[in-house]
Amino acid sequence: MFQTKITEMLGIKYPIIGGTMMWIMTPEFTAAVSNAGGLGILASAMYESREAFAEAVDRVLNLTDKPFAVNINLFPMMRPIDNNEYVDVLIEKGVKIVETSGHSAPADLCVRFKEAGMIWIHKCVGVRYALKVQDMGADIITVVGYENGGATGKLDIGTLVLVPRVAETVKVPLIGGGGVSDARGFLAVLALGAQGVIIGTRLLGTREAPIHENLKKALLQASELDTMLIMRSIGATHRVWANAMANKCAELEAARAGLPEILEIVAGDKARMMYDKGDLDMVIISCGQGVGLAHDIPTVKELFDSIIVQATEIAKRLAGN
Ligand SMILES: Cc1cc2nc3c(=O)[nH]c(=O)nc-3n(C[C@H](O)[C@H](O)[C@H](O)COP(=O)(O)O)c2cc1C
Repeated sequence: MFQTKITEMLGIKYPIIGGTMMWIMTPEFTAAVSNAGGLGILASAMYESREAFAEAVDRVLNLTDKPFAVNINLFPMMRPIDNNEYVDVLIEKGVKIVETSGHSAPADLCVRFKEAGMIWIHKCVGVRYALKVQDMGADIITVVGYENGGATGKLDIGTLVLVPRVAETVKVPLIGGGGVSDARGFLAVLALGAQGVIIGTRLLGTREAPIHENLKKALLQASELDTMLIMRSIGATHRVWANAMANKCAELEAARAGLPEILEIVAGDKARMMYDKGDLDMVIISCGQGVGLAHDIPTVKELFDSIIVQATEIAKRLAGN
């Protein structure tokens, strides 16, 4: 059950994609997601040099013989990134699946993905962006609704409407998500017309997630009310965990603070302080509303297996068996 065009194209056991997560989708965690039957996506933007990135790709290759992908980041970054360097490494190492996410799809890079014969997945938040990248040759489109952890874009369309709208509009296979934390969300997104499901926030509460135990425990206590949107004033809306630093960011925005002041507290590399040291209020962490649906800290394999088993049971119940 649940063999789809996405499992077939990507060569994975379950139609589950582990979302790119900066500082979290390390080689080890990427491999854990792939070894559990999903598709892990290594976040290339974590690596400051071509050499460090090449080593990270080698680590993933050593840790899993299953398919994995690499994310090429198109969001504006504090540190300028030459994505062509990362793509050089992907080609050199024979990486077969690449995901892009962020503002505009990259005309020059996508030509390189195609020439190298890679499967190109682009993640976005609306019909018009999906159509644009389909025209540019994306092989798979991922859409995430407004509930999702991380960038939500400007359109504010929830998963329940976004996924079927994109499914009825595009021709290429679709991965959907935003708020998927368990079997119910998994099955719902497939029912909405996607052939695969992306999960980010729920993976934070797994044993292998490389974040401090304090943070895992705090997220376990969090409910669906404990997220908030920030950075809309600078055109980079993100859904994050509503901790002290996120509230401080919102206050600065309400007071019409300038870009440097806001960037000072949202700078992504500070997130490592929280992930490594467990200091829960010092930095901002992306987090979706699906955090309210996480009630335990399983291994990634336990999580994925239970999603598949329970989704099978729900599908049978719905079919009246
Ligand atoms: C902690 C965290 C960090 C994230 N970092 C990134 C990132 O660097 N790049 C990206 O494209 N998406 C990022 N995302 C979004 C995820 O890849 C995924 O699209 C999203 O989490 C799916 O929605 P969900 O959180 O409701 O499951 C992040 C999400 C979280 C929770």
